[in-house]
Amino acid sequence: PEAITVQELANRMAEKGADLVKALFNMDMPVTVNQTIDQDTAELLVEEFGHNMVRVSAADIDISQTVEADPEETLRERPPVVTIMGHVDHGKTSLMDALRGANVVKGEAGGITQHIGAYQIVTKDKQKITFLDTPGHEAFTQMRMRGANVTDIVVLVVAADDGIMPQTIEAINHTKAAGVPMIVAINKIDRPEANPQRIRERLLEHEVVVEQMSGDVQDVEVSAKTGAGLDKLIEAIGLQAELLELRARPDREAEATVIEAQLDKGRGPVATVLVNRGTLKRGDTFVVGTQSGRVRALVDDKGKQIKEAGPSMPVEVLGLGGVPQAGDVLTVVENEQRAREVAEYRREQATEKRTAMAPANLDTMFAGLN
Ligand code: GTP
Ligand code: MG
Repeated sequence: PEAITVQELANRMAEKGADLVKALFNMDMPVTVNQTIDQDTAELLVEEFGHNMVRVSAADIDISQTVEADPEETLRERPPVVTIMGHVDHGKTSLMDALRGANVVKGEAGGITQHIGAYQIVTKDKQKITFLDTPGHEAFTQMRMRGANVTDIVVLVVAADDGIMPQTIEAINHTKAAGVPMIVAINKIDRPEANPQRIRERLLEHEVVVEQMSGDVQDVEVSAKTGAGLDKLIEAIGLQAELLELRARPDREAEATVIEAQLDKGRGPVATVLVNRGTLKRGDTFVVGTQSGRVRALVDDKGKQIKEAGPSMPVEVLGLGGVPQAGDVLTVVENEQRAREVAEYRREQATEKRTAMAPANLDTMFAGLN
């Protein structure tokens, strides 16, 4: 339950504090303007004064979900967030591995990516690029959609020896729906059966017109195996990013999006987040969805502990009160009490929503009986 001082309530009602004190006195509640009253009393007062403003509004308790923009002069260039999409086995993870000089594919169960991996690379020109490697398996359509929402650019991987497959089309549709620019990476060109030209032609059927077909979608032939064309792919991403003029304010409390989260046996709830703006620091208190927490540790994509993470950086966050959902926004708040208050408020809201839905369900149940 929320408490509010008499003066604060008076301010909100545009009434004199003394008048509220008088009214309270008449209601057998002798208080001063600086004392707090509970929600029910506040409501009584509001009614007494003939105002319609009931309940301390949600916006005062919750954190504004509408993103107010940071002032122009505080914005700095930020790395692009690139999501790699494409059909199963077309080489998304291999491409990612080749770009960052790692080998994730080998460690995967059955070579199938089960979650969204988030990595950042630094190019030869010292440009940072954040990559999200989304699963290509049909069962993960949902996650792929989430991947598209935090993304600036999509790299659509198509195996030159296979062609346009169901999940290639799905990826195209998701990308278009999200309004995100696309770069086509025609992979596995080292294979003898590779036929990149045929891929370009087939893409036309899905209204993807690549540059080589006189369109404006950049296309690059690559091989994750031999490393051919990787520089060109990086270049294409750089070019696209430049056009987008991606910027964010680094020197403010962080706001980040949860990419994935799970309960880790040893470490407790862990979330991989992507910082949208601001800088996330160790010790920061935050709310994320209906959970609150305090950053106990930040771990980068190489498993190294870091002190802070700026815009576009993917980072693992430890110190959550529970497991949030992918897509939840993490917001840094001033203190733990505030974090808990907001999280609790959101949980209440979520419960209310569920109860509000129950009668409707009963109605339909009875309707079915008649
Ligand atoms: P999912 O995560 O299951 O969707 O697959 P993915 O798209 O990540 O494909 P992955 O990187 O696991 O590669 C699938 C297979 O293709 C592996 O056996 C890779 O070694 C192979 N492969 C990937 N890229 C190339 C390439 O450029 N050339 C050749 N010859 N093989 C490749
Ligand atoms: Mg993979």
